[in-house]
Amino acid sequence: MTEAILLVGGKGTRLRPLTVNTPKPMVPAAGVPFLTHQLARARAAGVTHIVLATSYLAEVFEPHFGDGADLGLELEYVTEDEPLGTGGAIRNVAPRLRSGPDEPVLIFNGDILTGLDIRALVATHESTGADVSLHLTRVPDPRAYGLVPTDDTGRVTAFLEKPQTPEEIVTDQINAGAYVFRRSLIDTIPAGRPVSVERETFPGLLAEGAHLQGMVDSTYWLDLGTPQAFVRGSADLVLGRAPSPAVPGRCGDRLVLPSARVAPDAKLTGGTVVGEDAVVGSGARISGSTILAGAVVEPGAVVTDSLVGAGARIGARTTLDGAVIGDGAQIGTDNELRAGVRVWCDATLPDGSVRFSSDA
Ligand code: GTP
Repeated sequence: MTEAILLVGGKGTRLRPLTVNTPKPMVPAAGVPFLTHQLARARAAGVTHIVLATSYLAEVFEPHFGDGADLGLELEYVTEDEPLGTGGAIRNVAPRLRSGPDEPVLIFNGDILTGLDIRALVATHESTGADVSLHLTRVPDPRAYGLVPTDDTGRVTAFLEKPQTPEEIVTDQINAGAYVFRRSLIDTIPAGRPVSVERETFPGLLAEGAHLQGMVDSTYWLDLGTPQAFVRGSADLVLGRAPSPAVPGRCGDRLVLPSARVAPDAKLTGGTVVGEDAVVGSGARISGSTILAGAVVEPGAVVTDSLVGAGARIGARTTLDGAVIGDGAQIGTDNELRAGVRVWCDATLPDGSVRFSSDA
């Protein structure tokens, strides 16, 4: 049996305002809290016991997932008094682990959507006898990430956080946010203070001569840390490009939850999801977007690659493109919002008050 820790306590600042009322892992992607996809994928890989390391808005997880029996899991929740960072959070849940000192424990960041072969990561860990094994993925522009160069056997040779100069960009392999730890190593992380696993634990272990193994897996991978990535990830789940056993319905161009109401002549494409009790009016065109529960998109609105928060209203003929509308915000008719604009929760925008183009 393999057990896992899921890190779900971050503040999710890059995702605001989506994370004002909801912790990042609980924001719905393809109709269910994003975390559901991760839990279902872990279960499908044979994981049965998962400890959730919570901090920010910690109280919302347990009422939703309970003891995990619905997902065939045994879930436990541990809340930090003060945020302990990624490494501190791992150390903090150690008393709940059941594995023996040499057994593998899986650890997942709570904001990664990936088709990673979890069993293969554990198999790599066991066959190489590593202390820690890391899923690595290749990205075209690694500057926003932690680089993880490896030697020709896959053994990690360095950790380089957020490199900037061309000389620092020695590889396109990045830390993809899934690890296997030999259980005994978790107990060596200092307790009771914030620790970053990426910046402190991994470089420290490497300096001490520990064996850290990288496994490059070039399957689907997306860090859902920003609004644009989140919307993309949700659409990819709906389209079936990103694999998850937890998508509530058949994969295809759109996912409309049963209690939503969509006008027959509205056009939903590109992996659009319309959440519970949401309403889409006549002639609206929505592409690659996420409409959360109870939101209203009025007739003739055009919504592209955008996220409309729970209970928000998008006025008739308004255009959204690459926009994020916070929960409960009221966008009047005939507005034009583009290019990464973020409208805060409960804000009100009058009719015809914002445009990007000059046409009336
Ligand atoms: P940003 O504020 O937008 O950077 O997001 P974040 O707070 O989620 O930080 P980051 O993306 O670096 O976190 C990686 C993973 O670790 C996410 O799944 C977070 O939920 C989790 N995490 C980050 N900090 C903490 C913490 O202090 N405690 C716990 N339990 N989890 C954390």
